[in-house]
Amino acid sequence: LRLSELPIPKELAEILESKGYKELYPPQERAIKLGVLEGESLLITTPTASGKTLIALLASSNKVVQGKKVVYLTPLRALANEKYEEFKVLESLKRNGEWIRVGISTGDYDSPGESLAKYDVIVVTNERFDSLIRHNVSWLDEVGLYVADEIHLVGDYDRGPTLEVALTRIRTMAKDAQLIALSATVKNAKHLEKWLGIKLVSMNWRPVPLVEGIYSHGVIMFSDNSLRKIMRTNRGEAIDLAIDCISNEGQALIFAETRKRAVSLAVRASELTRMYLKEDEAKNAKELSQQILEVGEETELSRLLSKTVECGSAFHHAGLSSPHRRIVENGFKKGIIKLVCATPTLAAGVNLPARRVIIASLWRYDPIEGRSKISVLEYKQMCGRAGRPQFDDYGETIIVAPSKYDAEEIVYEYVKGEPEPIRSQLSREAALRTHVLSTIVSLPGIDRQELNKFFSKTLFAYQYSKLALASRLGKALNMLISENLVEKRKERFLATEFGKRISMLYIDPKTGIEFKKAIELAKRGEKHEVGILHIIATSEDFYPKLYARERDYEQILQFLDEHKEELIVKPPSITSYHSFEEYLQSFRAVMVLWAWINEYGEEEILARFGVEPGDLHRATETAEWLCYAFSELCKLFGNSELYSESIRLHDRIKHGVKGELLQLVGIEGVGRVRARVLYSAGIRSLKDIQRVSLERLASLPKIGFTLARKIKEKAR
Ligand SMILES: Nc1ncnc2c1ncn2[C@@H]1O[C@H](COP(=O)(O)OP(=O)(O)OP(=O)(O)O)[C@@H](O)[C@H]1O
Ligand SMILES: [Mg+2]
Repeated sequence: LRLSELPIPKELAEILESKGYKELYPPQERAIKLGVLEGESLLITTPTASGKTLIALLASSNKVVQGKKVVYLTPLRALANEKYEEFKVLESLKRNGEWIRVGISTGDYDSPGESLAKYDVIVVTNERFDSLIRHNVSWLDEVGLYVADEIHLVGDYDRGPTLEVALTRIRTMAKDAQLIALSATVKNAKHLEKWLGIKLVSMNWRPVPLVEGIYSHGVIMFSDNSLRKIMRTNRGEAIDLAIDCISNEGQALIFAETRKRAVSLAVRASELTRMYLKEDEAKNAKELSQQILEVGEETELSRLLSKTVECGSAFHHAGLSSPHRRIVENGFKKGIIKLVCATPTLAAGVNLPARRVIIASLWRYDPIEGRSKISVLEYKQMCGRAGRPQFDDYGETIIVAPSKYDAEEIVYEYVKGEPEPIRSQLSREAALRTHVLSTIVSLPGIDRQELNKFFSKTLFAYQYSKLALASRLGKALNMLISENLVEKRKERFLATEFGKRISMLYIDPKTGIEFKKAIELAKRGEKHEVGILHIIATSEDFYPKLYARERDYEQILQFLDEHKEELIVKPPSITSYHSFEEYLQSFRAVMVLWAWINEYGEEEILARFGVEPGDLHRATETAEWLCYAFSELCKLFGNSELYSESIRLHDRIKHGVKGELLQLVGIEGVGRVRARVLYSAGIRSLKDIQRVSLERLASLPKIGFTLARKIKEKAR
């Protein structure tokens, strides 16, 4: 079947054909035969790289020209960005003379989302969608198609329940809307098919063959029984495998167990990869490495990255700031970077030009969970990054076996293995209390029977017993009532103002309850800067946890001593050593946040606290949101003094500055570094900026004429 023969807008078919989409892939044909272009809901569980996105795109084109909206749900921001770029092609279509618009929204959970109404296609993360439901955003009724990508995430311990409840909502409340659910790694597709009540497209077809193999003692053994000998060096097996691929004009991706290992592999490989850069590639690599130094603050990590990238090798992990991660992804896609060494976070959905994926270790390291084996599902997702049709005509995944003895077992477990079945995680206490509350908020006056009925439509109820669910629901309800988040009026449930605010602020009820206690505990007339940071850092919602290490304790004790007056929750007695240690644990995060708002640079924070820029940004972003939530609850409970203090603290976290710079960082184009430059030069307020001459402003470090002009204009 050709695109031009399909009942879709002609312009779109033309553009896609010009981009090289000529014939449909078999799974795409199957979906079309089943009526996906006429609004049929489908669960599509075909292999990685089998073109699931195009099915969703074609169905979307029909919806938007009919005047319906499309919502595309993804688990990750990086994936949301990729899909947003892909769906932008719909902006070449018109409806009633108006161009179609594609938008994206991945954060800012407390904003109601009404401004998204102007878009026809809205790409969101699952969490953002959940927050839009809670705000009961008005345009939800206009949605004619929901696409749920990487739906295997339903089985994820932390984030699965949010997607599960969202899908339950879609199936029960948006009955007329079409649903297209996608994943390459669902073993128990029948469960999901029955749960969602939609047709299944399952087919074992991939446009590009993918072979899996295992490496031991200089030989790769592929699952099709072929063998390949590799030249061995003393740089290590993963690097030997990568260089073997690169020397044949391919690009390679290594998955490593820890960040540290990803970095060291990239560094060690860089001496070799540089030899495979052609003249123009070497020039581009140099530019890219320069760009890395120019984006954001320089740290030891960014200098190292810049050096390896210059040689065509890079590392990629959550410790990198997101602009740096984007540079690496794009450099890899353009073929400038030949090798990327990543942690398992880079796994699902993304289109990368890796001909060979090398699994250096089947273990992963999580600072909280410790060391654990990766699941078969994750392994299969990693494999799927190899051999993407727009880049290569075959793909390989090779596991480095720790020893010959292990090889057989690994083949049996992983290569021949099947992904674990998707299992609902909704029964977790934290998940249930959150979703029971949000259900009551969006359906005020719901009674127990209706609540049971809604939850009986979840995957959990389908996979486990409805009885077990009902009793857990009861427990969650009791907790919400006793903490005054929900009230019962004549057998019907209503959220209190407190409960509503918690749900809208998108925080765990437990976080809200802890915040309330702290607000009651705080003494009037005292300063609580560190105290508020401490409440935030110990809340359920704060991540990354950044638990203190043994060697941090001395610093922490000193810090505690200096700031003890500001604490809201005081340290427990040292005689109960366990709770005292637990108390200390959270203070690494507190000190990092404190350093951030006191203008410590990223470099210094890395050196002093061992916190990498990517984690620092995640921590400050989470703290910003939680501090906002805290300030909103201060407002709700009428504590105006704590409200002003926390709102000021929020602004400082947002910009990473001392209070005196707040006016200056409010100006577009002025960040924490430039604001400090201005301040030191005696320019301390908007008035000062108006008064100072353009020449003087432009002469300051890191300012220059263009920016000086802009700053003066904005300050007017
Ligand atoms: N009919 C087609 N002709 C040519 N290329 C296609 C066609 N359909 C899809 N592709 C290309 O195949 C690549 C993989 O598609 P896509 O990203 O949709 O995979 P996927 O099935 O979602 O895989 P994953 O499960 O890994 O997310 C894309 O780069 C896309 O451009
Ligand atoms: Mg996909």
